[in-house]
This record gives sequence, structure tokens and C-alpha cells, in this order.
Amino acid sequence: MKTLLIVSGGIEATHGVRRAKELGHRVVVSDMNPAAPGFAFADDHLIASTYDADATAAAAEHYHRTVSPIDGVITIGADVPLTVATIAHRLRIPGIPVEAAALAQDKLAMKQRFAAAGIPVPWFASVPSAATLERIVAERGANLVVKPVDSRGGRGVQRLRDGLDLRDAWERAAEQSPTRRVMVEAYLPGPQVSTESILIDGQGFTPGFSDRNYEHLERYAPYFIENGGDLPSHLPPATQEAVKKTVEAAGRALGITTGNIKGDVVVVDGKPHVIELAARASGGYFCTREIPLNTGVDFIGTVIKLALGERVDPADLTPRSFTPVVQRYAFPKPGRVTSVSGAESARTMPGVEELLVTVKAGDTIRTPTDSNCTAAMVLATGADPVAAKTNATRALDALKIETVAA
Ligand SMILES: Nc1ncnc2c1ncn2[C@@H]1O[C@H](COP(=O)(O)OP(=O)(O)O)[C@@H](O)[C@H]1O
Ligand SMILES: [Mg+2]
Repeated sequence: MKTLLIVSGGIEATHGVRRAKELGHRVVVSDMNPAAPGFAFADDHLIASTYDADATAAAAEHYHRTVSPIDGVITIGADVPLTVATIAHRLRIPGIPVEAAALAQDKLAMKQRFAAAGIPVPWFASVPSAATLERIVAERGANLVVKPVDSRGGRGVQRLRDGLDLRDAWERAAEQSPTRRVMVEAYLPGPQVSTESILIDGQGFTPGFSDRNYEHLERYAPYFIENGGDLPSHLPPATQEAVKKTVEAAGRALGITTGNIKGDVVVVDGKPHVIELAARASGGYFCTREIPLNTGVDFIGTVIKLALGERVDPADLTPRSFTPVVQRYAFPKPGRVTSVSGAESARTMPGVEELLVTVKAGDTIRTPTDSNCTAAMVLATGADPVAAKTNATRALDALKIETVAA
């Protein structure tokens, strides 16, 4: 029996913890939260901040020496590739280079690397001060995106437009950066996609491919609030192929030869541009639920195998089906939640595969400013894309989240 360490015991990691158990492994979960949901399914746990690479690595090393040797390490949903790579390096178990993980956690360094490697990216620049932002806007116009260099989940990412106070925008981005670093990019118009790939000895496989839904772009401007996604993609097959080749090349450009990567891509006039590449498995149930439902590929099972140094058969990464899957989020009226009902019956509705409610009575719902502001998520399948979407919306309609102005 092998021992797998999963960094993060968040709700989105629980399916991965369970999958690792099903595969017959001993599972240790590390998280700072003593009540982390993932602990319930694990054999053992470590208490350490997932973002603190040294603290988690020290706890892992101690466990490795005194309790049981750790054979592999992964994370699911948490943006902590540096923690995972540091542990892998110190325990001499499979992992991506620490340098690749560090690049993936720094959007500026990552884009510099991509630009040098010929990977298409939007125009970008470092913005050390609000005054610099004002100068850039004066030179290039306001069709720009300002963002923290090292945050996640859309926090502080804003699309500029005429009339938006640039000093406030800069400050909102800086606030979300642990190092108070801000950058700016050209806003790229076009369909956005999420991908999830595995590289094996430099060869890429991309079974995860989802069209991201940005129907709320205007409603929640200047913030980018994603409302789920649709699988399979509606993009032409040749464009999908180009996206896959681009993200796989981007992974190699970061220095990853074997490992998994999650891509954020915008397609501009048929040409893929990389917004960012995460050197970890996705959150939001993409890798644990959507890819298997859509393609039959056990993505997270494969990630676990790679982390344990086991051989992966490329055939296992080839989609076996293209079942329509639709993911949508609930955005109740901002205010204080007075009641939540209907979840049980929504779960039994046709096509509903997952319904996650993340608020309860007494909670406060804010106007969304990032992707942590959702109240519920549904995943539904259907005989065709329209049916899958209908199933998803029906389930969210059946879920009643009542609020009163706070
Ligand atoms: N240059 C850009 N052009 C168009 N959309 C962008 C751009 N930069 C960011 N976005 C949108 O904002 C979202 C969040 O930005 P991203 O850089 O991925 O930060 P995070 O790490 O917080 O996810 C992206 O998924 C995308 O929808
Ligand atoms: Mg992103």
C-alpha cells in the first residue's frame, strides 16, 4: 500500500481524497483548518497552512520520517504548486521542478517566460504604482485588465473602462497581492476556455476542455465573474486542437515535462492566447467530476498515479465519450440569507450529478467581486447540450435561497 499526501482538505478536494482511497492508497491530508472536510475521508492528517510551503514541507518530512513514508504528493483545488513541488523535492518523490511551480504562482514571471518561448500571450506590463497605470492608460487606452501578480480566484482582477478610477483599481489589485505587486494586460476579446492536461515525458494529453460562461461580464463589471461552463466545447475541432497544442507547449515552457496543468485561454480570431497556466489540478469540480462525466477519463486518478511514479497508459487519457455537461452557479440577491430550501428535491431532478450549496441561513451574500462569491453550484448532464443546460437551470431554480437586505 502506498501513502499519498493531498495538500488541501477543502470541499473541492474531497472527491480526490475518496478516489485515492478507492485506488487502495493510504491518504494523508494537510490543511490549516482542523475541521477541513477532506479530513473525514483521509487516514491521517497534518495541520499546516497550504500556502506555507516550508511549514507544510516540514510537517510532511516529520511524518515521512516518524510515521510512514510518503510516496506521492498532489493538491486539488488549492493554488499551491510551490508547496507541492517543495515537498516532492525534499522527500525525493515525483514532482515538477520547484522553479516551474514558482513561475506558475507569479503571473508576471510566467508571462515573461511564455513570451520568451513564443507562446501567444496578451500584451502585458508590470505596474509598480497607480501613476504608472495612469501613464499606460494615457498611452494605450483603457481596454486593459489590471490584476494582482500573485493572487487567485479572480480576486482583484478588473477590466478597466473609461471613467473607472485608476487609483482605486490599482489599490484593489494591490490589496489582493501578498507582495503588493500589480500588472496590466491588454483585454483579449473572444471565447474563453479552461483546459486540463497531463504531460508525460513532454508529450501532452488534454482530456479536459470546457467553454467558460461569462454571461455576467457586464452585470458584475469591472470584475470577471464566471458562471460555470459547458462541455464538450462548441469551438470548431481545429480550434480545440490549436488550444490543446498551445497549453501543452506552455506547460513545457514552464519546465514541466511530467505533471498536470490547468489552462486559462482566450481564443482571438481563432488563435489561442494563454491568460495563465496553473501547475496543479483544478478546483470547481472540473478534474474530479466534469472531465469524468464528459469523457469517461479518470483525470484525478491519473494525476494520483503520476504523483506515485506509476506508469500511465496514454489510452487512459483518450476521451471515450462526449456527454454534455453543464455547470452553473447561483447568485442570489445580495443581503442576509433567511432560508435555504429545495436542495434535496433539486438533487433528484433529471440529469443532476452534483448540487453544492455553500451558504446557510444567517450568512451574508455580497455583490460578487470574485469567484468565491457564489452561493451554490450545479453540475448536470443531458442527452444533448440544450437538455444538459435545461437540467442545470431547473435544478438551480428549484433551490430557493431567500435573502433580505442586510
Ligand atoms: N487579458 C485578459 N483578457 C481577457 N480576459 C482576461 C484577461 N485577464 C484576465 N481575464 C479574465 O479574468 C479571469 C481571471 O484572471 P486570471 O489572470 O486568470 O486570474 P486568477 O488567477 O485570479 O484566475 C480570467 O479567467 C479571464 O476570464
Ligand atoms: Mg485564472
